[in-house]
Amino acid sequence: MVEVTIEKNLSYCQFKELIPDLVSIYQRAYENLPEYRDDSYCKIAAYFSWLWKGDPEGFLVVFEGNKPVGLLGMHTNWREGKEYLAEIHELVVDPQFQGRGVGKKLIEEAIQIALSRGRKKIELWVGEKNRKAQEFYLHNGFQEKEQRGIWIRMIEELDL
Ligand SMILES: CC(C)(COP(=O)(O)OP(=O)(O)OC[C@H]1O[C@@H](n2cnc3c(N)ncnc32)[C@H](O)[C@@H]1OP(=O)(O)O)[C@@H](O)C(=O)NCCC(=O)NCCS
Repeated sequence: MVEVTIEKNLSYCQFKELIPDLVSIYQRAYENLPEYRDDSYCKIAAYFSWLWKGDPEGFLVVFEGNKPVGLLGMHTNWREGKEYLAEIHELVVDPQFQGRGVGKKLIEEAIQIALSRGRKKIELWVGEKNRKAQEFYLHNGFQEKEQRGIWIRMIEELDL
């Protein structure tokens, strides 16, 4: 377990300043998974802005000192039919920091935020060939629910 802190109330200015570092983490983390990611800097930066604006408090950045080493983007006001749930749209950890508890820390914090908003489910979609992430999520309490195209839906019930 590496010594890190999670920043969960970034202002828009703080967020904007971090974009180059966050895009770099994303590009390196998805280097071997080209089918599940955007590849242009501009598209990735726009995607992060969409994530931040949709739920600023659900945009978590992990730091080691001043250096960002991972992020989680979640919208806790995500609507699925008549139900509102917490949707994790993105989770990436700098490859140099993977396997050291950073992803788990982000998931645990996301669950606390989802619970504080009264959500009973936390959901995400993971690429069918991204076995490493699927195993990470299974190990951290998620269950596979369905597959649509190349994406597998995984859910953790929070009210058990
Ligand atoms: C998936 C990802 C976020 C995991 O983050 P991480 O920081 O490497 O994971 P952690 O070190 O926090 O692992 C937490 C726990 O899960 C376990 N785990 C991690 N990867 C695992 C794997 N491939 N298989 C089984 N267990 C795994 C760890 O052993 C650890 O268990 P413990 O708490 O019992 O010690 C990271 O690998 C990543 O950024 N991958 C590339 C981007 C990606 O695929 N994102 C997901 C998109 S849906």
